[in-house]
Amino acid sequence: MCGIIGGVTNQNITPLLLSGLKNLEYRGYDSSGIVVISDKRLLERQRSVGRIANLEKKLIIKNLHGEIGIAHTRWATHGKPSDENAHPHISNSISIVHNGIIENYVNLKNQLITKGYEFTSDTDSEIIAHSIDFAMKTCKSLTSAVQKVVKTLEGSYGLGVISSNFPNKIIAARKGSPLIIGVGKKGNYISSDQMALLSETNKFIFLEDHDIAEIKIDQIKIFDMNSNQVERPIVISNIKAGEVDKGKYSHFMQKEIFEQPQAIRDTLESRITNDKVNCSAFGHNAEKIFKSIKHIQIVACGTSFNAGLVAKYWFEDISKIPCNVEVASEYRYRRPILLDKTLFITLSQSGETADTIEALKSAKKLNRSINSLCICNAAESSLSRISDLVFLTHAGPEIGVASTKSFTTQLVAMALLVCSIGKLKNTIDVDSENLIVQGLKKLPGLVNDALLSDSAIKSLAKSFKDKTSSLFLGRGTMYAIALEGALKLKEISYIHAEAYPAGELKHGPIALIDEDMPVVAVAPNDELLVKLKSNLNEVKSRGSQMIVFEDEKSNIKSLDSMKVFQVTSNLGRITAPIIFTIPLQLLSYHVALVKGTDVDKPRNLAKSVTVE
Ligand code: F6R
Repeated sequence: MCGIIGGVTNQNITPLLLSGLKNLEYRGYDSSGIVVISDKRLLERQRSVGRIANLEKKLIIKNLHGEIGIAHTRWATHGKPSDENAHPHISNSISIVHNGIIENYVNLKNQLITKGYEFTSDTDSEIIAHSIDFAMKTCKSLTSAVQKVVKTLEGSYGLGVISSNFPNKIIAARKGSPLIIGVGKKGNYISSDQMALLSETNKFIFLEDHDIAEIKIDQIKIFDMNSNQVERPIVISNIKAGEVDKGKYSHFMQKEIFEQPQAIRDTLESRITNDKVNCSAFGHNAEKIFKSIKHIQIVACGTSFNAGLVAKYWFEDISKIPCNVEVASEYRYRRPILLDKTLFITLSQSGETADTIEALKSAKKLNRSINSLCICNAAESSLSRISDLVFLTHAGPEIGVASTKSFTTQLVAMALLVCSIGKLKNTIDVDSENLIVQGLKKLPGLVNDALLSDSAIKSLAKSFKDKTSSLFLGRGTMYAIALEGALKLKEISYIHAEAYPAGELKHGPIALIDEDMPVVAVAPNDELLVKLKSNLNEVKSRGSQMIVFEDEKSNIKSLDSMKVFQVTSNLGRITAPIIFTIPLQLLSYHVALVKGTDVDKPRNLAKSVTVE
């Protein structure tokens, strides 16, 4: 999704803006641009469609020089990717970069046209530049002009504003779209993401919704929605600049797949003491809240939704508590029934997914008595700041657009939660807790073992070279894992992939099966294996090429039409879905390599979807 970086320093800002844009690339974008205020107090801009490398080429021909500037990676929402639609936008002395969507832009645009403004782009964002320029006619300062304009905007914004008439400050504003201030030694900065600023500072101020900040080289002032000056804490980030390197790996996704044993170890650390799950790991008040709850509602998007679906099976099966799971973009616009004593759980790698944040806000309006828990990989995210309880997965920065280690660590978090709630509600006894804990402790080693199948899966991936469509099957929690496997494959290899509960096949999808449609099945030795085997026979007898991932006791015969891969030894209910995720991640990664796609930055996708 769009990214912002800006800064005011005592040296040429262009190299920093450019390297910051490169660090934002992983979020997904289709054009980029930079504007600086030159020594002659003029706005100087370069914009380009496509990769940052294209912008870099333009900067070789016409370099920009200035000590203050803002830059942007754009992920098209209103208007196609083009130089004209790329940010920064300019209106006379004003230039802006904007993340988010302005919903009332058509009205505002019409008003600005009647005032004589000419539009050069199809974006919703350009109206902000013209509105601030118009407001400057009556406002004494750039800050008060921005304060006036944001009151007229409906929708979401993370905003960076400069003016060649005020060449010593950047104004930043946010509502519903993340924006942070980096406090540096050589200057102060803004960004939508810590990643872009790690080379300059590890000190960040996280703006709150409706905040407006005035940022100078030696001074930062923040105002709340009532224009009162407020203090926001400086948070020291423990993410290191080196953590966002690929190291010895070819892609971030590959690195992140192989980081999973460590990510799981880090997520478990200090969450289990003396073989008992620490309920307080979910927050000071967690025990009291967990004892009182009677229902669970999970809301999330994409991969995080799939993790929620696994957890639904666990909550009802293991801790005997009713659990619903729903995609956030649906939940937020329904009028769902949200019972008292519900624990409302949001799952999100980034903690910035607009739909998930809005679903939580709408749940709080529906029933004020509910308690919320956010399971997230980003400290200080928007979602964690509006949740009652927060549990951080310690997966480390995930740069590959396709989520991998954030999924498996979310499952670890959910396993700890299932155990905590079960213990407090007396639905899990000491022996069951011990079984879960021992399984979790073995997980890093088991994931390591599963990663050893990498080269076998690499060979297998070749059979997908000419395929355009595929089916993924599983039953129980493995249905959710099949969904995740299919999502990974379609995201990065662009092969159409659908997942079904294997028992549902005969109700329709079986019509699709022929020799051109590979079917991938996840088949651990669990209570549903016999049923799954008969579903696999139904597929086999219709001529499909099948790939089956099993464990050592599943005992499925390899045939010409059915390649069986033993992933691991027999596993428990909690460990199995996590382990069976690994071969599916590796499969999608290697198929993407065979297809020659851009693994870390698949087309049309954004890492963190901060707009609706
Ligand atoms: C899939 C993927 C997306 C995200 C989804 C939610 O690989 O990355 O489907 O899972 O956009 O993002 P978060 O978890 O940040 O809320």
